[in-house]
Amino acid sequence: MKDNTEELKAKIRELKEKLSVTVVAHFYQRDEVFEMGDITGDSLELAKKTREDDSEFVVFCGVGFMGQSVKVLSPEKRVLMPKVACCAMARMIDSLYFDESVAAMEKAGIAKENILPITYINSNADVKAKVGKMGGMVCTSSNAKKIIETALQEGKKILFVPDRCLGQNIANMMGLKSAVIGIDENIADADIVCYDGFCSVHQLFTVDDIAFYRRKYPGIKIAVHPECDPAICEKADFVGSTSQLIRYITALPEDQKVAVGTEFNLVNRLRPKNTYVLSSTKPECPTMNETTLEDLYNTLKSIEDGEPINEIEVDEETREWAKVALERMMAL
Ligand code: 13P
Ligand code: SF4
Repeated sequence: MKDNTEELKAKIRELKEKLSVTVVAHFYQRDEVFEMGDITGDSLELAKKTREDDSEFVVFCGVGFMGQSVKVLSPEKRVLMPKVACCAMARMIDSLYFDESVAAMEKAGIAKENILPITYINSNADVKAKVGKMGGMVCTSSNAKKIIETALQEGKKILFVPDRCLGQNIANMMGLKSAVIGIDENIADADIVCYDGFCSVHQLFTVDDIAFYRRKYPGIKIAVHPECDPAICEKADFVGSTSQLIRYITALPEDQKVAVGTEFNLVNRLRPKNTYVLSSTKPECPTMNETTLEDLYNTLKSIEDGEPINEIEVDEETREWAKVALERMMAL
């Protein structure tokens, strides 16, 4: 079959010139899609930079909650997604499961007015809206520690959704107690009560992988994303969000070996030598990888044809409260 990658790239560039459109791409996108991005970054950077952009159309190459967040923050923008692919973790919670989590905390003896919810940005707008209504806010893996520190100043118990690992890792980092709803008994004693969601990609890294790389390459550094299990983060030399990992790894001396526990596409383009994927399985995010160059081209073409496809809509009440939760994070 003929490879039409370069042809598609040229057509995409042509359409971008012609239309009032900004292409946004997360670091985990396929290389050829990432290369087409006008704005690239991790989830926090994308939310901030896209907000400041003034094109009529945003074509977002990422996962559903990311495009939704742009729409929530800037309703005047028309947000299209070449593939409306939903992050596996975001899919693990909805507003009903959120209510059940609050109820589980109440059952453990914690009054609702003493619960402050925080949702990782990897959640859909309905969950963000619930969090906003209860006085809580959003965080990303870059600012989770700061957001939790600020939230704790209110003297309340934190309900952290949906990623149990990020919640537990931040609690460990801060010397706080955490408990996972449905798994741990000690909900009432915990400072941070976590929902039991997780990232299917970051669950792939194991302590055996770390032991293997340390044995094989003495002196190697292990750098991982905080969506990895606490048992992995404990044994790593560095734990950080996507952009923190990039800064850490690119600043290492050229001959310093590093094994990285995060998504494959990012690791693969990080550093040409001495960088390893911390897994025997290729840790590709299936939903991030759904977006192809062809999808991107078709989406841009639909704008040119006056019939935009895959447009993101959020109903007004959900949008308003999700915005409150996102704005609280932005203000910090
Ligand atoms: P970042 O906030 O680091 O971009 O992470 C988003 C994500 O989905 C990680 O799996
Ligand atoms: Fe979601 Fe995990 Fe993919 Fe990130 S890597 S988008 S958390 S499934």
